[in-house]
Amino acid sequence: MHLKGVWRVCYRVADLKPTGGRVADLKPTGGRVADFKAAGGLAAVGVESVQKMSHSVTMLEHTGGEADFIPFARPFTGREEEEAVLRVLRSGWLTTAEEALAFEREFAERLGRAAGYPLGALAVNSATSGLHIALEACGLGPGDVALVPAYTFTATAEAAVYLGAELAFIDCAADSFLLDTESLERTASRLALGKTAYETGGPAGRPRAVVPVHFGGLCCDMDAVNKTARRYGMAVVEDAAHAFPAYTEMGAPAGSLGDVGVFSFYATKTITTGEGGMAVSGNPDLVKRMSLMRWHGIDRPVWNRYTGGKASWYYEVIEAGYKYNLPDILAAIGRVQLRRADELLEKRKHIAACYDTAFSDCPLFSIPPGAAGDARHLYPLRLKQPLAAARDDCVRKLQELGIGVSVHFIPLHKMPYYRKRYGLKDGDFPNAEDAYSRVISLPIWPGMTDEQIRRVIDSVVKLIG
Ligand SMILES: Cc1ncc(COP(=O)(O)O)c(C=O)c1O
Repeated sequence: MHLKGVWRVCYRVADLKPTGGRVADLKPTGGRVADFKAAGGLAAVGVESVQKMSHSVTMLEHTGGEADFIPFARPFTGREEEEAVLRVLRSGWLTTAEEALAFEREFAERLGRAAGYPLGALAVNSATSGLHIALEACGLGPGDVALVPAYTFTATAEAAVYLGAELAFIDCAADSFLLDTESLERTASRLALGKTAYETGGPAGRPRAVVPVHFGGLCCDMDAVNKTARRYGMAVVEDAAHAFPAYTEMGAPAGSLGDVGVFSFYATKTITTGEGGMAVSGNPDLVKRMSLMRWHGIDRPVWNRYTGGKASWYYEVIEAGYKYNLPDILAAIGRVQLRRADELLEKRKHIAACYDTAFSDCPLFSIPPGAAGDARHLYPLRLKQPLAAARDDCVRKLQELGIGVSVHFIPLHKMPYYRKRYGLKDGDFPNAEDAYSRVISLPIWPGMTDEQIRRVIDSVVKLIG
């Protein structure tokens, strides 16, 4: 057998001594798990010898993507998550119930402790659905305009469109990935005066909500965002999809700084449930409304109507709500990931520190700004000219070298739907375009081995260093 990449061998205890890799974990059932970094023949020898020494190998699982390829992202889950899923599968109740409630309680407790005041948390099946119920609860609707960054994923913007509102895009600050708060103020002021969002046109309507994005785990200037929001009567829904756990310079947690904060637990995010999210608010009225709309507009929790002898079967539908609940199987994974959030953060910080050290002197690109409270969800390198002109080539070549990379983000005004809807064109949001044209996001997932980190560094240096 010839193996490449990272492999995990599960075998029973006894006298096994793997010749390569390290013992990563102890199975409570009496088995062991070893992670092997299979570099060509060498580690394959390790795996083979485990198999030769005993017939008790119970599982051979490839954990490192195809062959030597280092994927751009990979969830960090293990035995505890597996056991949590099994616990739910065996419980006889697969959809939303006790696990989701516990996940919400634990998430709210953690964020509320960091914020210094109580918060309510609602588990949802994605951040996209969380943004939808958040904006709905804040009253966004036809005739309103939501102000959103041009430099983000479409989910930030599309939720407002679901509600019949219009969108005004805001550029990022020069040399930054984050919302330009002066531009935000200017656009809100124009709309409040009954003008179109931009001098060149765009939507008109009441500025009703702003959705700042904590890009890659870096917090926006929320003091400035909140000031503008208060001045024009806008709700603030933080898109904290990248930002668990992220903190401002003052130590306040992202997601607790506006009216509602929305986190994502999508497979590539800092903690994951595969698909999932959490909407958080310190305003009980907003929590109540979101809770109603999350589950069909039903006026009371009746999830246990089939189980408890005393459970009430009666309910009333008081709104045309949505079906955005998070099933218990996923919530159970989320509870484990939540407990491990700081451990995962430390691992990402370690990778970022290795990259920072290796790349800080390179004149051809700059390292991400970083900050004390950065959740380090992404590691976006910014190429400088003349190399920036060859960004697409660099992405392709890194992939050919076996390094999975990505580009965050393609600005929304370049997307055909928004372009057509608002008559937007290249050059409309120059800072977002500049950021997009130069960025390459490197892998920064917690399970990366030191060897993989080294390979990313060597490949980047070889190609563009
Ligand atoms: C900034 C941002 N907001 C929202 C989302 C949507 O998250 P979800 O996939 O959980 O709906 C994403 C997803 O990548 C994102 O990057």
